[in-house]
Amino acid sequence: MNLSTKYLGMELPHPFIVGASPLTNTLDGARRVEDAGAAAIVLASLFEEQIRREAGCVPPGSNGVLEGSIPEIHLENLRRLKESLAIPVVASLNGSTLGGWINWATALQEMGADALELNLYEVATDERHSSEHVERVALEIVREVRAAVRIPLAVKLLPYYSSLSSFARQLEDAGADAIVIFNRTFEAEVDIEHFRIESKMTLSSRDELLSRLRWASILAGQLHSASIAVSGGVHEGSDAVKAVACGASVVQVVSALYEKGTAYLRTMRRDFEDWLDCRGFAGVEQLRARLSILTPEGDRGHSRIDYMRMLHDWRPEP
Ligand SMILES: Cc1cc2nc3c(=O)[nH]c(=O)nc-3n(C[C@H](O)[C@H](O)[C@H](O)COP(=O)(O)O)c2cc1C
Repeated sequence: MNLSTKYLGMELPHPFIVGASPLTNTLDGARRVEDAGAAAIVLASLFEEQIRREAGCVPPGSNGVLEGSIPEIHLENLRRLKESLAIPVVASLNGSTLGGWINWATALQEMGADALELNLYEVATDERHSSEHVERVALEIVREVRAAVRIPLAVKLLPYYSSLSSFARQLEDAGADAIVIFNRTFEAEVDIEHFRIESKMTLSSRDELLSRLRWASILAGQLHSASIAVSGGVHEGSDAVKAVACGASVVQVVSALYEKGTAYLRTMRRDFEDWLDCRGFAGVEQLRARLSILTPEGDRGHSRIDYMRMLHDWRPEP
């Protein structure tokens, strides 16, 4: 069975990678993930705000990076992981200024990252910033980082864009080699005893996969060369089957490993392989994008007619 897949210029042995999280923050953790058979890892994001707070805005590469500061630890960690692991290491960055994005992307590349994931997490709350403005800023970041580094670039998105197909195509034109759908927002919970809003971080559920499947199947037929990573709600081997069938080249797993332990990745991979095997698939490429909306099998569930029919035909479960 040929489970290999191409992602960010890498030929991976199968589509299961571990997403950005503290799971890979330590050498021990990363080794456990490698032992569980991950095809690649994404490190937790380096946030520019952490860098600024810790190091007083010093540019990377200068002697000004404080010893033991978060950026120094992060870069050193990346260097050690690259030295010790055989699997590819993708660094993740969340900048706040254009200069920061460029400088820290370059620093992560110099420390040996095989590829870079740009974490464009931003909840647009400022009424003066139109959707066009938000997208223009994001595109400029991708374009400038693309010009500054030579390693492949993935862009990790939140689901909240007015016209995701158009935006994803523009990201691709700006230099993105992959689109990661989606990051998770941490929803507001209201504490009515103390009258305050709390942002709660919870692990994902399988329900979250559904919006990813929809968008993978929509984007797969429209992106020209960028590949798709599905991140969010992949908890079983069968979830990866669905993601790949909708067009994903890889799936990123985090919550399932927190819940069931790192070694569970091996079970997911085996179940995925068994599914393909039982149904006579020769490999991942034969399954990939079978359910893209531009294929005859996949052109369901997105149109106004489907929406209308679904509402009309719905009955409460007995
Ligand atoms: C504890 C934790 C830390 C995370 N840290 C990051 C991060 O630093 N950068 C990022 O882009 N995503 C981060 N994520 C999001 C995950 O990479 C992933 O997109 C999300 O959890 C959905 O995947 P899952 O359903 O497999 O958990 C984090 C998630 C968790 C649970």
